[in-house]
Amino acid sequence: KGQKMWGGRFAAGPGALMQAINVSIGFDQRLADQDIAGSKAHSDMLAKQGIITPADRDAIHGGLDDIKAEIDAGTFPFSNDLEDIHLNIEARLKDKIGDAGGRLHTGRSRNDQVATDFRLWTRDHLDLFGIQLTALIEALVTQAEAHADTIMPGFTHLQSAQPVTFGHHMLAYAEMFARDRSRFADARKRMNESPLGAAALAGTPYNIDRDMTAKALGFDRPMANSLDAVSARDFALEALAAATICATHLSRLSEEIVIWTSAQFRFISLSDAFTTGSSIMPQKRNPDAAELVRAKVGRILGALTSLAVVMKGLPLAYSKDMQEDKEPVFDAFDALELGLAAMAGMVADMTPNKDRLADAAGAAFSTATDLADWLVMNLNMPFRDAHHVTGTIVALAEAQGKTLDALSLKDMQSVEARITNDIYSVLTPLASATSRTSYGGTAPNNVRHQVARWKAELD
Ligand code: ARG
Repeated sequence: KGQKMWGGRFAAGPGALMQAINVSIGFDQRLADQDIAGSKAHSDMLAKQGIITPADRDAIHGGLDDIKAEIDAGTFPFSNDLEDIHLNIEARLKDKIGDAGGRLHTGRSRNDQVATDFRLWTRDHLDLFGIQLTALIEALVTQAEAHADTIMPGFTHLQSAQPVTFGHHMLAYAEMFARDRSRFADARKRMNESPLGAAALAGTPYNIDRDMTAKALGFDRPMANSLDAVSARDFALEALAAATICATHLSRLSEEIVIWTSAQFRFISLSDAFTTGSSIMPQKRNPDAAELVRAKVGRILGALTSLAVVMKGLPLAYSKDMQEDKEPVFDAFDALELGLAAMAGMVADMTPNKDRLADAAGAAFSTATDLADWLVMNLNMPFRDAHHVTGTIVALAEAQGKTLDALSLKDMQSVEARITNDIYSVLTPLASATSRTSYGGTAPNNVRHQVARWKAELD
């Protein structure tokens, strides 16, 4: 019982409750690959510095390779008695190679070890999200290219506002997801420093080479302060913050998919691949995938909140509270990974209903602003006056149950005598959207330019 890895000064093993609250192998076994990579880099460095022999180094590498094979094959004997992934692997290594295994932990602590493993794991996921976001942006750009001149209503307050193009709407999300991608890349840059070699908290008297291990693990440099190295989790908080923002974007697009697929809107349809039925209502086609993606932001923001609260008020250096850092990040990143994949799939799967979108774009006097702009441009009317005149014309059309372009010229002239037949050229949704040629505007040609820019960038 006193045989724990740290058991030298203990007469008895921990009680059952101590063990129950202490054990983390159930979740931190996800760090196995990173732990093995870290141990290989560390043992290479120890050998190069003459701290262990080349023979010990080779034995350690061989043992770690065997262990990795066991883990991959699902035959590794994970043990709760050994607390966490670090001690599980180290104990197994000693079983396999004897004394050399006991030399691996020279000049290292579990504190810098776990900080290193967790950084590597998080970094891998930031890279993965970058790749997934690129795939999502590609799907959006593909839809934008196909629908650069598909007219749809644009909304403010979810009330019809002005006609826009479907392509423009898709590219709005491409912009958001590109910012998310750059946030992940930026977080990666800041986090890419190695804690390894900080040891427990104060550094180590061995002549270690932290530049060598940092480089071997793909870090830009070793962290400059050993206390900071084992205490810092802001890399995980920052990654979770970026994930939360990304998840809000996924949630907004999901919400639009939910609205657009409703019988009341019918703006788009999703194939059976992204739709489920109802066990009681035979007619139903539910957008469950979009709803679930919409919901993921809840657990991702929850993870950010959890970790921020765990970290606040912790004194330097390591405290066991920090073992609670991993589960929220694992859960949040699993959710984001699935959400990004599902969203890329749904965007590619969407079929816009062009006729329905065009009808909706023409409803609710959506070209009233174009009428007002015509008055300004052709009659040199101050915009505020034009706004008032247009409002009167809209009220007239509404009273007659007509759209603006169906209102007679005589009726319009009854409100403003100088209006000419030319007015009708600006009252269709297509004309309205096509006129929005200012930089960043919705005109089909703008959309095509932006699509070309995106495609060049994505290449
Ligand atoms: N399982 C621990 C964690 O996740 C590893 C570090 C343990 N360090 C210690 N001094 N007990 O944080």
